[in-house]
Amino acid sequence: MASYDVIIIGSGPGGYVAAIRCAQLGLKTACVEGRDTLGGTCLNIGCIPSKALLHASHMLHEAEHNFAAMGLKGEVPSVDWAQMQAYKQDTIDTNTKGIEFLFKKNKIDWIKGWATIPGPGKVKVGDDTHEARNIIIATGSEPSGLKGVKVDEETVVSSTGGLKLGKIPGKMVVIGAGVIGLELGSVYARLGSEVTVVEYLDVITPGMDAEVQKTFQRILKKQGLKFIMGAAVQSCEVADGKATVKYTLRKKETEAEIEADTVLLATGRRPFTDGLGLDSVGVELSERGQIKTDDRWQTNVKGIYAIGDAIAGPMLAHKAEDEGMACAEILAGNHGHVDYGIIPSVIYTSPEVASVGATEQQLKDEGRAYKTGKFSFMGNARAKANFAADGFVKILADKETDRILGCHIIGPAAGDLIHEVCVAMEFGASAQDLALTCHAHPTYSEAVREAALACGDGAIHA
Ligand code: NAI
Repeated sequence: MASYDVIIIGSGPGGYVAAIRCAQLGLKTACVEGRDTLGGTCLNIGCIPSKALLHASHMLHEAEHNFAAMGLKGEVPSVDWAQMQAYKQDTIDTNTKGIEFLFKKNKIDWIKGWATIPGPGKVKVGDDTHEARNIIIATGSEPSGLKGVKVDEETVVSSTGGLKLGKIPGKMVVIGAGVIGLELGSVYARLGSEVTVVEYLDVITPGMDAEVQKTFQRILKKQGLKFIMGAAVQSCEVADGKATVKYTLRKKETEAEIEADTVLLATGRRPFTDGLGLDSVGVELSERGQIKTDDRWQTNVKGIYAIGDAIAGPMLAHKAEDEGMACAEILAGNHGHVDYGIIPSVIYTSPEVASVGATEQQLKDEGRAYKTGKFSFMGNARAKANFAADGFVKILADKETDRILGCHIIGPAAGDLIHEVCVAMEFGASAQDLALTCHAHPTYSEAVREAALACGDGAIHA
């Protein structure tokens, strides 16, 4: 039973980053984590393992489709699923151990177990009650489930089971064309599964720029993914290890069904706050189960803060990290701020999809005068050399001031390219500022510059 300046509950990207920053700022810090390893959903069963599988399956795709054309002859590799899983596990292990090392280095106590908050300033783990001047709840989220679909993590899986299937399925049905469905759907399509995505809406990746949505779906179709759009899944039954997914085609109001060896349910996530005892301590939740906070991440109970997926906003690891750092600064008596208008979002398929700031639809809805600069990767020499020329960069800028309002990229390394636009936006840059910045040749980044040029007098290679 120790006494701390801060106890953080949860060691995902929000929690562990908050812990490190608190410790760096001189606060006596502990982090409670019930899992056997640190890192939360992201490192153990989310971002990191999925990126390992995306990388491995992308390499296979390159070998199958592009090696011969580059003069790399030989047999296309076959898939050793057990080894691919071992590689994925190694990736997880090195990352989770890395966090453990950082905790030791920064003298952060890892309190092992699941926490409850018996009262303000108190955190109970097992039989021990620890004192804390401040508590940060960073307990993340869990798959939200769907009525009529029971996840058994074998035949019907969430993203957790989807990362460790016993074998590569012959037929896979993915429910939900969001980020998880398309990332994991891509993995299995590349590994040889016949993947059908069943989506409620008429578009994939709701909220994305409409042009990106269309291009993205076209590319995914070309890669072999099938789509059933406008289909509301009603139920999923499992018999003899096979699943039957029943859905209603919303426009025609007809019912249909599809069979699969594996069903991946990817219809969203919800905040995870079970077992914390928030009710008894009086912490308020929204109707959607998110912990309510003020603009300093403090809940309605003094000294109890919350960050990440457990509160409002996009469920993204880097948003949680930023909140963790800002919240730590505030607890140390400094200033902490997150610019919610400039949080990038990335889908790690191939090609990658990335966006920041406003979409065209949002600007239209707001009645803002804007201009568009678009540049296809077809005009980018590096992308052409690398068989990665499908896609584009689109920059949206204020019609009068030229200030950058948003950027949407589908193409090679989009998830990295987006950040120069994020930095530009943080500095209030105009499209011309980007256009006048020298970009090395030949790089994918030149496509960003060309899109900025297209906001003005025109791109060079278009
Ligand atoms: P999502 O919210 O991105 O997509 C869910 C999809 O399911 C939507 O398109 C929705 O219309 C559809 N849907 C809902 N009910 C349905 C029904 N009855 N029948 C058919 N379709 C239905 O949720 P997802 O993909 O599960 O991801 C959860 C969260 O995790 C998201 O907030 C996402 O941002 C985050 N995440 C982020 C990643 C990244 O940044 N690369 C990777 C993985 C997850």
